[in-house]
Amino acid sequence: MSSTRTFRVSSSGIHAAALIEAAAILRTGGLVAFPTETVYGLGAHALNAAAVQRVFASKGRPSSDPLIVHLYDRSSLPLVAAEIMPLVDRLSNAFWPGPLTLILPRVAAVPSIVSAGRDTIAVRVPAHPIARELLYVAGMPIAAPSANRFGHTSPTTAAHVLADLDGRIDCVLDGGPTPIGVESTVLDLTTEPPTVLRPGGVSVEQLREAIGVVEVAMRSAPEANGFRSPGLLERHYAPEAELWLGIGAPEAVRAWMREQTHAAHAAGRRAALLVADEDAAQLADLGADIEALGAADDLDGVARRLYAALRALDQRRPDVIFARDFGEAGLALAIRDRLTRAASGRVVWV
Ligand code: TXA
Ligand code: MG
Repeated sequence: MSSTRTFRVSSSGIHAAALIEAAAILRTGGLVAFPTETVYGLGAHALNAAAVQRVFASKGRPSSDPLIVHLYDRSSLPLVAAEIMPLVDRLSNAFWPGPLTLILPRVAAVPSIVSAGRDTIAVRVPAHPIARELLYVAGMPIAAPSANRFGHTSPTTAAHVLADLDGRIDCVLDGGPTPIGVESTVLDLTTEPPTVLRPGGVSVEQLREAIGVVEVAMRSAPEANGFRSPGLLERHYAPEAELWLGIGAPEAVRAWMREQTHAAHAAGRRAALLVADEDAAQLADLGADIEALGAADDLDGVARRLYAALRALDQRRPDVIFARDFGEAGLALAIRDRLTRAASGRVVWV
């Protein structure tokens, strides 16, 4: 593929031509990146094995890591899922369209490459208006992982998509920055009780309120290797620089950052800090590169800015990044999960 076309669909109104063209690309086995409410996805016709193969190739994603199938609505579920348990209706009523992915038994009509040979399928109904219009016009289930090169942070803007995949995909629908900024929550309904395999846009608290007991297959950060979802063990969401995550009381984390930054500078290494606004004010004197994610109690804002901030920091080529944690309530658990993986295990409880 020589060049990737960009269709701007952010301003309200005339998207019809772009969507019809994007749908035609999908129908003929091509690849279309599009915004969802979480991050940009890299879409292919989910029932076309050759198209799905192209998704893996363009991302450099190992074929052992299964994709999420996106549907226009709940009523299309029998196209991909062989068994629809009673829990599905409670969850879909509460959270679809939205950032919740369900793992269900797969029907044979979905090529096994989509789910990396597993007999289950990941499926969600996204809420973003452009994703919905695309699903509606294309009239097919769309398999879409996040639209980044394997191992990179997920894209929250069309520019991020192009930075990773320009020339490797057919087109990107530029719908502006994505509103949630971290990926969907992945909930496995083939286990009893259901298990969260990846925390995300729907919180564990919200799930428990809707359906009762839910297990979380994610250990506390010191031994954060307990992910059951394939592909979750690899170094993920990772910047080029070495990233350390500090977990603890805000004052203790700031003291740790101070100490570490002095030590890094003394060793001739360039340090950068990924913090909340209130930390930035207090650490400004350190002379480190600082990326502030917003007020620490505005978790929506922190999640929305997280990946763009990681990419921005990385471009300034620090040797080491010290990041702060935001706790584990609500969206903070997803933020901790992504930062823990970006840290590849370099997590310090201070
Ligand atoms: O928000 C999102 O979920 C975004 C947007 C584009 O929808 N998509 C996304 O896809 O994050 P991806 O491929 O980057 O992550 C999908 C996750 C992976 O961790 C994968 O291992 C897991 O879902 N997954 C997919 N199918 C699965 C299955 N059958 N069993 C267990 N885990 C599965
Ligand atoms: Mg991904």
